[in-house]
Amino acid sequence: MSKQQANRGSFSSSIGFILAAAGSAIGLGNLWKFPYVAGNSGGGFFIIAYFLFALILGVPVMLSEMVIGRNTNLNAIGAFQRLNKKWTFVGAIGVIGAFLILSYYSIVGGWVLKYIFSYLIGADFGADKVAYFNNFVASPVEPVIFHLLFLGLTACVVTLGVSGGIEKASKFMLPALFILLIGLVIRSLTLPNAIEGVKFLFVPNTEVFKDASTTSNMLLSAMGQIFFSLSLGMGIMVTYGSYIKKDSNLTTNTFFIIGLDTLMALLSGLVILPAVFSFGYEPAAGPGLIFSIIPAIFEIMPFGSIFGLLFFTLVFLAAITSSMSLLEVVSAYFIDTYKWNRKKVTFILAIAMGIVGIFASLSMGPLSHVTIGGLNIFDTLGFITDKLLMPIGAFCTTIFVGYIWGLNNVKAEVELNGMKFYFYRAYSILIRYIAPVLIFIIFVMGLFA
Ligand code: TRP
Repeated sequence: MSKQQANRGSFSSSIGFILAAAGSAIGLGNLWKFPYVAGNSGGGFFIIAYFLFALILGVPVMLSEMVIGRNTNLNAIGAFQRLNKKWTFVGAIGVIGAFLILSYYSIVGGWVLKYIFSYLIGADFGADKVAYFNNFVASPVEPVIFHLLFLGLTACVVTLGVSGGIEKASKFMLPALFILLIGLVIRSLTLPNAIEGVKFLFVPNTEVFKDASTTSNMLLSAMGQIFFSLSLGMGIMVTYGSYIKKDSNLTTNTFFIIGLDTLMALLSGLVILPAVFSFGYEPAAGPGLIFSIIPAIFEIMPFGSIFGLLFFTLVFLAAITSSMSLLEVVSAYFIDTYKWNRKKVTFILAIAMGIVGIFASLSMGPLSHVTIGGLNIFDTLGFITDKLLMPIGAFCTTIFVGYIWGLNNVKAEVELNGMKFYFYRAYSILIRYIAPVLIFIIFVMGLFA
């Protein structure tokens, strides 16, 4: 290993990597976004599409990204550049996408911080939890301050480096989050009428097929959600893969991460949606869903405000292990390419994202009149990343790996150190034919429906 590579840091063990990558994958996407996107997309069939896409898109794309990262030992842009100069742009899509995602991700992270503070000072969310949330996000100052605070904290963890910060935080957060979620699922399922929420999630409802636009919207949402939730298409797994040791088994890693991520999303759905139906909330309420339903659940529980504090603290930890991965992708590029100092790069980037995010936050209040194609700035950022950059990034990755770099290279990297690539045949069909065609069709449908 060269000195330069040694300086980049690496994960101290396979399990450390799995936890860190799962830490990146598991975040607001699972806890905050999954329940409301499922709610917006009609439940049942969305969940089926989600599981299916996890297997036929998630597995091959994630494995490919990890292989590229570990093979080159470089950041997202550097990795593609090393393998084939003409494909550098795929890495660039990732770095730009990660920058944009974090600009709005940190706003939601800021909301989580706000709820932590509210619980600390005695939790009063009023009778109308939805109104409380809506008032808060539309106000001009507070959400902006919390957004900047969240980004600042993310930057602090990233400057601690790979194994120091990222790995340590993930090791503690995931098990704690899992246990609390299980407890909450039990609470939620025993609420009156909870079964309606379970039915909503698992009983396929043919309503979504009533016209082409609801169908394609459901498929596009499920695909966007898979990529978002698994941190795909944006060079995260390339960057993290570059820190994996050569004796780690990439196929096992992939299944573990996807399994854990899907489990967490499902648990979150099983906390939120039964409660939504029990309290008579609207499943299609959008981004405010967990922020209104969770305080409502805790209000009627003994020691509810302590659990509320614990819950949002764990959501915060899950969010920060994801946000640091986003910042890391962008930072790693500048560190590798320009040999800049990690601390300096990280803080400069955080400031730049902070500024973009301020506009996005204000777009839910004072700047709500500024719209692009009917979407405010916050939603526009979400649209650009989830529905454009991520599918394009993932599509290009499949083509690159399947046709340009070549499957032999993938196979060789996976099989290093005598590992077995036991589903190589399935992988090669998925990555060359099924994944690119599916991504392309859904992407185009989404643009025109
Ligand atoms: N997957 C994370 C979540 O579910 C968010 C995230 C982190 C992400 N890194 C990413 C999304 C890269 C897309 C691309 O919250």
